[in-house]
Amino acid sequence: MSIRAELHSTIQALVQPGKGILAADESHPTIAKRFSAVGVESTEEKRREYRSLILSAPGLGEFISGVILFEETLGQNSLDNTPISKLLETQGIVPGIKVDKGKKPLVNASGDEITYGLDGLDDRLEIYRNQGARFAKWRAVYNISATLPSRQAVEANAELLARYAALCQAAGIVPIVEPEVLIDGDHSIERSAEVNEIVIAEVFSALRRHRVQLEYIILKPSMVTPGKGCAKAPPENVAEATLRVFRRVVPAAVPGINFLSGGQTPEEATRNLSAMNSLGQQPWYLSFSYGRALQEPAQKAWAGDLGNRSATQSAVLKRARLNGAATQGLYTTDMEA
Ligand code: 13P
Repeated sequence: MSIRAELHSTIQALVQPGKGILAADESHPTIAKRFSAVGVESTEEKRREYRSLILSAPGLGEFISGVILFEETLGQNSLDNTPISKLLETQGIVPGIKVDKGKKPLVNASGDEITYGLDGLDDRLEIYRNQGARFAKWRAVYNISATLPSRQAVEANAELLARYAALCQAAGIVPIVEPEVLIDGDHSIERSAEVNEIVIAEVFSALRRHRVQLEYIILKPSMVTPGKGCAKAPPENVAEATLRVFRRVVPAAVPGINFLSGGQTPEEATRNLSAMNSLGQQPWYLSFSYGRALQEPAQKAWAGDLGNRSATQSAVLKRARLNGAATQGLYTTDMEA
């Protein structure tokens, strides 16, 4: 198969009505934080146990088209000793891989951050591909304040996202391009809209500069919401503000926009996505690529005990199903019962 044909077939598999992506690619410090919230120490064996449980939930592939894995998981076997990438394939799910190396402060730009991980990425992509990964993720992070992010942060992060995306496509791997504008802070929904517009416009300008084929990427942005420190906006306002920004800056060639949940509660993330999809047809397929909003209830149900297998699997399946409905604008709160 040519590289282009491969990218095309991966996009077809990922962007499907009623389905979205599960982000299970938490780095070691992040998964330790999530486990600690349910009283579990994060060890390699516990991470394998938990991730095996959720990824083998029967029927997960009905609502989940792709799973983003952390490097460690891509090399692990599930509890019944199947390689995790094989397990996903039998579920009809495309295996993906987080390839960035995390963020650090951006030098000479107080309060801004920059993502690391480009060195040696071409060689790593080759290895991940051989392990079964067909798509990848790189997360750029932007803090919001009255003055942040700086122009340096906007340009530097866009450049790295574009170079990562170009390398992925050259290796036959579909890049998820993730510019996450953080929800932390007490900014208004208008300020969130303003920053998202600047950030995403710059990302597409860099993608163009690096000749990334927009037909074979997935954009993973934040929704436009007020900061965590403010009163929440109703779903209709979030939907309207988010789509207004995206219509301005996301070319119609992009097949899918799969939102991150970014600290919204599971119900909120589902409601807001459904509100967007009830506004009618858009140029792109609007779906989810949630981490916390898909997994929080499952982590609580598991609480480190394999005996809670069925409750854990039902919990992740429920959020996947409700978000699947939200991709069609068909979610209602009574479906939570
Ligand atoms: P959240 O949905 O928990 O924000 O995670 C998505 C993700 O992959 C962040 O990089």
